[in-house]
Amino acid sequence: MIAIGLPPEASTIAPRVDLLLYVVTAVTGLVAIAIFVTMIVFGIRYRAGSPAPRADDIPALQARARRRVETAWTLIPLALFIASFAWAARLYMVRGTPPANAIELFVVAKQWMWKLQHPGGQREIDEMHIPRGQPIRLVMTSQDVIHSFFVPAFRLKQDVLPGRYTEMWFTATKTGRFHLFCAEYCGTDHARMGGDVVVMEPAEFARWLAAHPAAENMASRGADLFRHYGCSGCHGANASVHAPNLAGLFGKPVPLSNGTTVVADERYVRDSILLPEREVAAGYAPIMPSFAGQISEDDISDLIAYIKRLADTREHPK
Ligand code: CUA
Repeated sequence: MIAIGLPPEASTIAPRVDLLLYVVTAVTGLVAIAIFVTMIVFGIRYRAGSPAPRADDIPALQARARRRVETAWTLIPLALFIASFAWAARLYMVRGTPPANAIELFVVAKQWMWKLQHPGGQREIDEMHIPRGQPIRLVMTSQDVIHSFFVPAFRLKQDVLPGRYTEMWFTATKTGRFHLFCAEYCGTDHARMGGDVVVMEPAEFARWLAAHPAAENMASRGADLFRHYGCSGCHGANASVHAPNLAGLFGKPVPLSNGTTVVADERYVRDSILLPEREVAAGYAPIMPSFAGQISEDDISDLIAYIKRLADTREHPK
């Protein structure tokens, strides 16, 4: 699909979003033309003093024909609206369902920059290097106000909120540099809060990663923080305190003391660190202190990476 006057289509979803846009624009355009043509024709035909037949002259027999016309102009637009809704809803579902093999990157927005961290621990500011053809999932949060992560070439935009995670995924289809914008007014330098998404061939990306070694990957840094913040005092293998064991926890359902069950995802782990009393695991006393105000978003994302590794490798927390 050729994007007329639009940025390049550089993700798998971009041509699908554009096709929907073109079809909706074409349909609404045709309807607008039909309405204007009818208005002009009727305006001339039924102008004051013209000999055209008026409503009073139409015999009762035509009442049925008129009903048919009314039914048609009710049902056809209804079908068009339902069709465009179903089409858009399907795209929305695709956009909200990242594939299981997606690489996860953490994004922290702050006035006025984008901070990114790769699973290997590489950190970037206002730049995101990614491989072409590989699904990427962004787990995003804000350190202050609401921002919005917007890559026009990918046809994707997602609000980034303080106090919670939002996510976005895509597969880039073209190599090159694509602009990244903040699309939510966030203060003085909002207009300058942006950067570049750099899409590379996978081999080139592997070289880039190797050329930017991180001191530690996210999970290892998380393991250090696990001890630094004293988590290991209660959640470690040799702890005497009765606290949930975190080995194998991530991604599993967790029964809560209020009788409900939640999945141990990024949101759950983050809330457990900052708002531990909100969702207490069944069978445990609500004794965990809150770390709100004492821990940065970066450290939380490293701790999450560590807790994920505990689940992936069946390693035990120390
Ligand atoms: Cu951040 Cu606008």
